Amino acid sequence: MSDAKSLLQELEGLVPECEARLDQASSLSELEELRIEYLGRKGRLAKIMSGLPSLSNEDKPVAGKKANEVKTALTELIEGRQSQLERAAITESLSRFDPTMPGRTPHKGSLHPVSLVMDEICDVFVGLGFEVVTGPEVENDWYNFEALNMPPDHPARDMQDTLYISESFLLRTHTSPLQVRSMQEKNPPIAVIAPGKVYRRDSDITHTPMFHQIEGVLIDENVSMADLRGTLTAFVHQLFGPKTEVRFRPSFFPFTEPSAEVDISCVMCGGKGHIDGQPCRVCKQTGWVEILGCGMMDPNVMKSVDYDTEKYSGFAFGLGIERVAMLKYGIGDLRMFFENDIRFLEQFS
Ligand code: PHE
Repeated sequence: MSDAKSLLQELEGLVPECEARLDQASSLSELEELRIEYLGRKGRLAKIMSGLPSLSNEDKPVAGKKANEVKTALTELIEGRQSQLERAAITESLSRFDPTMPGRTPHKGSLHPVSLVMDEICDVFVGLGFEVVTGPEVENDWYNFEALNMPPDHPARDMQDTLYISESFLLRTHTSPLQVRSMQEKNPPIAVIAPGKVYRRDSDITHTPMFHQIEGVLIDENVSMADLRGTLTAFVHQLFGPKTEVRFRPSFFPFTEPSAEVDISCVMCGGKGHIDGQPCRVCKQTGWVEILGCGMMDPNVMKSVDYDTEKYSGFAFGLGIERVAMLKYGIGDLRMFFENDIRFLEQFS
C-alpha cells in the first residue's frame, strides 16, 4: 500500500514548481509545452495519480479531491500566463502600427455611362408624366415588323440587318415593338417610355451589334404634331440645356406619318460649326447633330391592334442612348462603351 501522505505532498509540490517555471515560457508554444508536461495525458499530474489505485479506501477520495484542486490551480496559472503573452503580442504589433499612415482607398464602382444617360432620360420623361415600361429582347416578327407597318417584303427585314433566331423569332432591332405592346396592354391615354437593348447585324466604328434605345409613345384624343414638338423640345432643353436649339427635319419611318428627325445645335461647337477656327468634327461643320427619330403614329399601326383611328391619335419617338451619351460626355468612339476599360469607366463616378 502506497503512502498517502507522500502522494499528497507530491501533488502539492506541483503548483509552486510550475509557477516557478512560468516565466521561462516566453512564447505561446513554450507555454503549451509546459502545459503538456504538467497536465498532459502522460504528464506529471497523471503520473502521480497513477499511484491512486493502491491507496486505501479512506485515502482515495482525499487524494482525488486534492488532485482536482491542483489541476484547477495549474490550469489557472497557465491560462493567466497565456493571456499575458497574448496581450504582449498585441502591444508589440501595435507599437509597429503607424496610425498616421494614409489608408488604402478601395476602388469605388460607378454606373456605366449608358445607365447614367438612360436613367437621366427616363427621369425627364417621368417628370413629364410618362411611365417607364419594358419589353422582351427576343421578339416575334409581328411585333418587330408586321404590326409596325413593315410587310414581309420590307427591306428592313433583310437578314443583312436583323439577327434572326428562327423563322419567326428575332432579336428586336429597335424598341418600337413597345408601341404595339403598350397599346395592347393599356387604354388611352397612354404615355410610356421604354428603354432597353436592341440588336442589329452591324459592326464597325460607328455601329455595334447591340446598343440601347429609348422609345416614347403618347396616345390620346386630339394629339397633334404640336404636342410632339413641344414634348421633344422640352426634353432636349432639360437634357442639354435651355439654350440648345431644336430643329425638326422631314424624314421617313414605316410606322409614323408624317415622320421627322430631330437635330439639336451641336453640343461641341455650340452650333457654330467650328471651334477656335478649327472645323468641328462632331457636327462636321454643319452646326447640327441628329439625336432622334419621331412622328405621328401611322393609322396602320393603330389598326393592327384594333384602335379607333377616328378617335385616337398619337406620336412616337426613338433615340439611341449611346449616341446621346457620346454627345453629352464628348466621347469620340462608340466602342469605348463596350470595352470595359476601367480608366474610361471610372470617369463617370
Ligand atoms: N425605331 C426607329 C429606329 O430604330 C426610331 C423611331 C421610333 C422613329 C419611333 C420614329 C418613331 O430608327
